[in-house]
Amino acid sequence: MKNGVIILAAGDGTRMKSSRPKVMCEVLETPMIGWVIDSLSEAGFASEDIGVITGNGAEIVEKYLGERNVLKTFRQNERKGTGHAVMQAESMLGEYDNVLVLCGDAPFMDADTIKSTLKAHEESGNSVTVVTASLVNPTGYGRILRDIDGKLLGIREQKDCSEEEKKIAEINSGVYWFKASALKDALGKLKPNNAAGEYYLTDTIEIIRDNGGLAEAFCAENADIVLGANSRKDLLNLNTIARNRIIEKHLDNGVEFVATDGIIIGKNVVIGRDTRILPNTILRGNTVIGENCEIGPNSLIENCTLGNNVTLDNVHAYEAKLSDNVKAGPFVHLRPGTILHDGVKIGDFVEVKNSEVGTMTCIAHLTYVGDSDVGKDVNFGCGCVTANYDGLNKFRTVIGDHAFIGCNTNLIAPVEIGANATTAAGSTITKNVPPDSLVIERGQPRTIENWEHNSKRKRKA
Ligand code: UD1
Ligand code: CA
Repeated sequence: MKNGVIILAAGDGTRMKSSRPKVMCEVLETPMIGWVIDSLSEAGFASEDIGVITGNGAEIVEKYLGERNVLKTFRQNERKGTGHAVMQAESMLGEYDNVLVLCGDAPFMDADTIKSTLKAHEESGNSVTVVTASLVNPTGYGRILRDIDGKLLGIREQKDCSEEEKKIAEINSGVYWFKASALKDALGKLKPNNAAGEYYLTDTIEIIRDNGGLAEAFCAENADIVLGANSRKDLLNLNTIARNRIIEKHLDNGVEFVATDGIIIGKNVVIGRDTRILPNTILRGNTVIGENCEIGPNSLIENCTLGNNVTLDNVHAYEAKLSDNVKAGPFVHLRPGTILHDGVKIGDFVEVKNSEVGTMTCIAHLTYVGDSDVGKDVNFGCGCVTANYDGLNKFRTVIGDHAFIGCNTNLIAPVEIGANATTAAGSTITKNVPPDSLVIERGQPRTIENWEHNSKRKRKA
């Protein structure tokens, strides 16, 4: 069986009051449509079998989809309803046996539900299988109509419901498995005969039944999977649910949280056991953290890889790689391309960029290391600067093992400090320094005796 997917993502999302299209609004810093794509790939769909209906903010959605390697998109230029949206992807229906239709604004639809309903759909020989959920407050959703024996009759939108029908708790999740041929046939018969004047995808259920096709509905155990966001309030609610769920997953894996205030962990972050995450820490992207680390408070770590026993206190780190036993902080900025080897120590107000720093090297205070290759067991005094940029080009600084960079040294790149060399405090180094040597670059001191400062003279006058 060949199975394809159509994601509906053309909707306007006016109530979100955003310049971004609704499906690009983020839950835990991943666009809602990104969550849907993640679930689909977890369920085993190849990106070439996914088609997306775009419309509102199509360029923005398509750019993101391109980054996710989902390249099949269909523009719905006028929004005439969910049925009309699916019609735009009609060319896909000839290519597949079954087609999954789902919404780009319901991020919690999971791989298990997608797979188990497909199984039921195929085993029962259904023409359509609808995923439903039972909600305490079903307002706004389409209601599931069943006969006395529980057989699915159809779906009624809120706007078209009688008072009795509004009391039905079972709702349409907006996720369906269709036999592609049955869907194609039903789309041809859709009419906008409803309060909204739209082509409702939900009307295909009754059309399929009238044609003699089988239609079934499966109620999901976890009602969260249907939750979507139409407003900022909904979005905050989804964020809260996702945030707590992810923290719970890490707790189950042996990660320690003394309090969870201000802790936001992205869905793809991996954390080893006995690692402690302290308040106001944000872990983003594909960050991987080893065991026994302490991260935070007040740290932001994005797309970084950390070994074991790493301590980061008030650190911002982006695309950096830290080996075991690295200690950084407080108030440290690690920028892309930073590689810190085992046991490196980075202290307060230090910035490192695009540099590799060898084992046990210590950069303890007020220092900038950029575009540099630093050996092992190097010691930087306070206030050192690698001057890597002449306003036009960037140059590298190379420092050999066991070198000692005195306080307030300026290293004017390109420049090389040999192994075991020492630079005297306050030196500005413009030429390479050989190994095992001391370099001093200072002006000769000049002392003027009995000199009175202006302010003193003024006071006397
Ligand atoms: C839809 C269902 C409803 C279900 C609910 C679940 C219909 C008629 N109703 O209602 O039964 O309970 O989803 O969330 O299908 N879209 C387009 N083009 C359009 C209109 C919508 O691409 O012309 C997309 C939207 O971007 C969204 C999805 O379709 O991703 C659902 O549209 P929305 O307007 O939110 O439908 P609901 O009224 O919520
Ligand atoms: Ca919706």
